[in-house]
Amino acid sequence: MLMNMLRRLGFCAWFIIFGLINNVSARDLRNVTEPKTPETCLSVQASGGEDTEAIQIALDSCTEGKAVALSPGTFYSGPLLIPSGVSLLVSHGATLKALADPELYDLGANTCGTLNEYGVGCKAFITMVGAIGSGIYGRGTIDGQGNVTMAGRNISWWDLSKAAQRAGNFQNNPRLVQINNSLDITLYQVTLINSPFYTVASSETNGFTVWGVTILAPASARNTDGIDPIGSQNVTIAHCYISIGDDNVAIKALTAPSRHISVLNNHFDSGNGMCIGSEVNHGASDVTVSGITFNGSKNGVHIKSNTFRGGHVTRISYSNLCMYNVQKPIHMDMEYAHLRGNRTPEFHDISLSNVRVLTKGMFMLHGLSESDPVYVRLKDVHITKDSEWFTSNAVITGTYIDDVGDESCGYTGNN
Ligand SMILES: *[C@@H]1O[C@H](CO)[C@@H](O)[C@H](O)[C@H]1NC(C)=O
Ligand SMILES: *[C@@H]1O[C@H](CO)[C@@H](O)[C@H](O)[C@H]1NC(C)=O
Ligand SMILES: *[C@@H]1O[C@H](CO)[C@@H](O)[C@H](O)[C@H]1NC(C)=O
Ligand SMILES: *[C@@H]1O[C@H](CO)[C@@H](O)[C@H](O)[C@H]1NC(C)=O
Ligand SMILES: *[C@@H]1O[C@H](CO)[C@@H](O)[C@H](O)[C@H]1NC(C)=O
Ligand SMILES: *[C@@H]1O[C@H](CO)[C@@H](O)[C@H](O)[C@H]1NC(C)=O
Repeated sequence: MLMNMLRRLGFCAWFIIFGLINNVSARDLRNVTEPKTPETCLSVQASGGEDTEAIQIALDSCTEGKAVALSPGTFYSGPLLIPSGVSLLVSHGATLKALADPELYDLGANTCGTLNEYGVGCKAFITMVGAIGSGIYGRGTIDGQGNVTMAGRNISWWDLSKAAQRAGNFQNNPRLVQINNSLDITLYQVTLINSPFYTVASSETNGFTVWGVTILAPASARNTDGIDPIGSQNVTIAHCYISIGDDNVAIKALTAPSRHISVLNNHFDSGNGMCIGSEVNHGASDVTVSGITFNGSKNGVHIKSNTFRGGHVTRISYSNLCMYNVQKPIHMDMEYAHLRGNRTPEFHDISLSNVRVLTKGMFMLHGLSESDPVYVRLKDVHITKDSEWFTSNAVITGTYIDDVGDESCGYTGNN
């Protein structure tokens, strides 16, 4: 019956229906609801000194499905490994501080805390590898101490990141939370501040929920990305507040594709915005971004790649966005950072609907060439008069209206 109907309606309708079917799957395929904090297996009290061993022993002896609770107080720790099935619960009033001692994070080459050509010399503060059903919960705070002077040194992690920029190389700094090759991982309610490097990165992890999390670092702290799903699938990022010094969220696909990702009802202040790229060589697809209020970020929605990275970015749907004081509200660039190679990036099937941009901005849609343009659909896109558009090699369906008046965004986020 469907086929008959399609034949009658012709190819055009087929295309529309196909588009609808596709949009249905352009999201986290799990049915994600608000996480529940697991029961506590053990509680740990702050000693006032170094707590690494006490916390790690508790994590290692906790039963699967339960959480080690950090009681109210200030904990100081080196790197921690969260075992499979076990969670860390940072209670309200508890702060877990990452000791700013490069030796503790060094991966063996004595490069952590130095500059070199690679920037991969440190392990993360909190790591999960091959974990199933682990997480980090609680209304407490994890502080990466990126602003604190490193042990045996006269500069902080963030100073080292600035020095790398001046030297044109890379800082070896720890990420705050690294999740690799895992399944069904949850971060809920916790506040993550002052990461020395990326705050949360997942690599080849399927089933990842970040819900009601607050991530903070100053706008000046380089490379303090908020949440980076890398080669990960079935990801939901919801009700988060993210104000940092680099990409608020960056979907990447360095070693595997990233797909089926939902980014729902978040609030971004400072940062580089809602990003896809630039490492999308394995492809980023089936992403729904709905409900972000932006206030003061450099970009709103940003897709970036180049012929050095390549990658297919497709079925990306943005809706219900409100932007205030955003420099580049829509920014799609297939020649990002002017890096050149022989891979052709493709940006297809990207739609924006119900978007309000309350302040003047630069809208940039930059495809690679006439034969490799960026394809974008606009629907109910309202912007501010005297905004600037820079488009080249862009196929734009629909249009925008510059009719935004004196209005405010309301608030989408976790409060
Ligand atoms: C999600 O919920 C819908 C509607 O209740 C159901 O049809 C679908 O099978 C569920 N999907 C999963 C993966 O549980
Ligand atoms: C994503 O979730 C759906 C629904 O639960 C599941 O069928 C699928 O296998 C998951 N994908 C991956 C890569 O885990
Ligand atoms: C680091 O930042 C925190 C607030 O996020 C602040 O309380 C602390 O004093 C700062 N430390 C240094 C050494 O600047
Ligand atoms: C830190 O120490 C180095 C030598 O170890 C010195 O060259 C540099 O000037 C010092 N920086 C600051 C900010 O004191
Ligand atoms: C996690 O994965 C990243 C990217 O593949 C890799 O660089 C890092 O070494 C891995 N970390 C661990 C602890 O396995
Ligand atoms: C944006 O942030 C500034 C300062 O943080 C605040 O005063 C202003 O009300 C915010 N504007 C909107 C539209 O949220």
